[in-house]
Amino acid sequence: MKPIRSAPALWPALWPALCLPLLLVACTTPGTYGPPLARVQLAPTGAAQAAGMNPGGLLEFRQAEGVVYVSGRITGLKPNAVHGFHVHEVGDCANEGMASRGHFNPNGKSHGMHGAEDAHAGDLPALKADANGAADVRVELRGVSLDVSPRGLIGRAVIIHRDPDDFKTQPTGNAGPRPGCGVIETTR
Ligand code: CU
Ligand code: ZN
Repeated sequence: MKPIRSAPALWPALWPALCLPLLLVACTTPGTYGPPLARVQLAPTGAAQAAGMNPGGLLEFRQAEGVVYVSGRITGLKPNAVHGFHVHEVGDCANEGMASRGHFNPNGKSHGMHGAEDAHAGDLPALKADANGAADVRVELRGVSLDVSPRGLIGRAVIIHRDPDDFKTQPTGNAGPRPGCGVIETTR
């Protein structure tokens, strides 16, 4: 009687094809960055009602090899609108968000587009709301840390603006009022 061959000779050749996609997924998902070390709960400011917005949502901050990864989902935006989005210097959402002062800028740069050579450390990619007024956030930040220090994000504010950022006007991007705000805090 012939033994039943359950593993054809072809199987080993298939392993790379099966395992490579898994490896790629493992290397590009937030899990690679470990547990969230900080978070920010967004909430409406005194400027929200006039802007016709009700911003909310939770963003989590993870870290790996000098890169801070920010992820989460923001709701309560204007449907299908684009909103300026920044880390601001001071973790204070009072006075319609104006107490957060200017963009987080530890390197003395000009305002610009996220990832550009000349941009504030706090310049984030614009929030692009879907038809429900929600936007997913997945951003990598370099040159910043998750601590309380000159380059640290802990204790800074995240601001959601009413209007789009023009990435040109100095030093604000002319994104209008600040209807959404939250203070970045450590999870430890
Ligand atoms: Cu801003
Ligand atoms: Zn800026």
